[in-house]
Amino acid sequence: MCGIIGYTGSANAIPKITKGLSVLEYRGYDSVGIAARTELGVKTVKCKGRIGALEERLTQQKLSESQCAIGHTRWATHGGPSDTNAHPHRAGRVVLVHNGIIENYKELKEMLSRAKVSFLSETDTEVAAAVLNAAYDACNDPLTAIRTATAQMTGSYAFGILFDDHPGEVWAIRSGSPLILAKGEDGFYLASDMTALLPFTREYHILKEGEIARLTATEAALCGAADAWCSPTWSITSMTPESAQKSGFEHFMLKEIHEQPEAIVKSVSPRIKNGLPSFEADGISSDFWKQVKNIQIVACGSATHAGLVGGSVLERVAKVPAASYIASEYRYHPPIAVDGTLVVVISQSGETADTLAALRYAKSAGLPTLAIVNAVETTIAREADYRVYTYAGPEIAVATTKGYCTQVSVLYMIAAAIAHACGRISDEEARELVRSVAEDAPTAITEMLEKTETLREMSKRLAQKDHVFYIGRGLDYAMSQEAALKLKEISYIHAEAYAAGELKHGTISLIEQDTPVLAISTEEALYDKTESNVREVRSRGAYVILICRQDARDPGHSADEVILLPTKSEAATLFASLTAVQLLAYETAALRGCDIDRPRNLAKSVTVE
Ligand code: G6P
Repeated sequence: MCGIIGYTGSANAIPKITKGLSVLEYRGYDSVGIAARTELGVKTVKCKGRIGALEERLTQQKLSESQCAIGHTRWATHGGPSDTNAHPHRAGRVVLVHNGIIENYKELKEMLSRAKVSFLSETDTEVAAAVLNAAYDACNDPLTAIRTATAQMTGSYAFGILFDDHPGEVWAIRSGSPLILAKGEDGFYLASDMTALLPFTREYHILKEGEIARLTATEAALCGAADAWCSPTWSITSMTPESAQKSGFEHFMLKEIHEQPEAIVKSVSPRIKNGLPSFEADGISSDFWKQVKNIQIVACGSATHAGLVGGSVLERVAKVPAASYIASEYRYHPPIAVDGTLVVVISQSGETADTLAALRYAKSAGLPTLAIVNAVETTIAREADYRVYTYAGPEIAVATTKGYCTQVSVLYMIAAAIAHACGRISDEEARELVRSVAEDAPTAITEMLEKTETLREMSKRLAQKDHVFYIGRGLDYAMSQEAALKLKEISYIHAEAYAAGELKHGTISLIEQDTPVLAISTEEALYDKTESNVREVRSRGAYVILICRQDARDPGHSADEVILLPTKSEAATLFASLTAVQLLAYETAALRGCDIDRPRNLAKSVTVE
């Protein structure tokens, strides 16, 4: 949430910062700005809108050259999107960009106002800049000032800072929000996210909580709590510049839907040993799985939906109670833990504030924690007792697809591992389950991708509607929730998911002539019951698109349109249904001309509670 990039070196910083900001836009895109050191001091150019608007301003204001600059793309929290609220913010001799929320900004603002400090914006960030400037005025030393100022702040922050009288230096500190340093051939970088740095370098260092960084053109230095300076430990990321590009697809979302077969293989294969489920490479033994008696899955957004599907699979296959909880609610109404409770947090970004808070809560309650995370070495991955990476690669589109898909595949593997470790399934059954996820699911997704044209045709009707209902039973109800979220977040069509049997208890009153109802029916045993619900809505005028198994009995008779799914295994059918609803949402949003990769009001990585 919000993106930061900084650079100092021998090359021109302006194109680097604008390039980095365009990659980072998925973290927030309501306003954008740059502060760059010029011969006349630090110059700031910022505006409401996106990177294109900033580039126009940079041309108008003749800012094209600098060797040291910081930039920011914003997702508004305190104060709406405007030129004034855009970052960077200046106070005295300090200019900074900020991700996170300064929770005590009101108290700090009142304190500074009493000292006759005035403010231009409504942001907590400008207050942070003023607190830092006051500390800097008192000591004239950036390191001491950053320490003194941040000691007064509560909340979360990642700061990129320029001090007027320290030319060529970019300073940084983080607490609760991610920040990465990187080393290029011609200088050093700072960014909230590795993807922004991929056009320039792959050598990075993740800043630790509370660590202060000072970057110059020739050196990166870190100062920890003990006040001793040291050098970063550089690592090479496995991401490539191509992994953050559209590679010929119209949108990142479509590219990422197409990457799902490969992403599943990458996520599942490290957890297979001799055809059986094994998490030994993740440091998790089969003895660990044997102790698990109850699972609480905690996550936000689509990851919660992955937890719903995964929880259902865990209960069926592993016979372990497993419920999925919304992370922002978990702390306020914690479920009762029994002996053998394992808390599984799921997060694509590894930085979602609500999920992190839930993880910390579970740890403070003494519960063992396991994180299913895509972005490596992120806060959630580091803080959990155990981590299982999903290896989906960078996900750029705000609406998750391959992230969600790999989360579900890993939950399948965990279910198989627990069931096998506890002797609830035989070797043969475990092998078959693992094979179905590793082989059938990717193949089924590929088959469904081949039906894109047909799904595009079906979307034409959806694109004209204001309300859409998704119904399903069992696993399909869980999938319906993700399907409805996908459609509403990118096409802005109101979509609701209902348990198919529940509709008649109230919501069926909303069904009118031509109301679209998408019925998902992948479970053979539940087909007849879902079909009855389809008849109920159809006889009240609904236009039904039935997503069902290809071996279903006469589906064309029950629905207006039918999407047939491969049936090689439960995993094949489930992942094919996922791909179908993702493509329907994508095509519908495309027909409506929506900004698919950057839907209004959203951000990919939500680092505020
Ligand atoms: C945001 C995104 C969602 C995502 C959720 C959880 O709301 O827009 O697509 O599912 O955060 O993100 P996480 O990174 O924790 O999986």
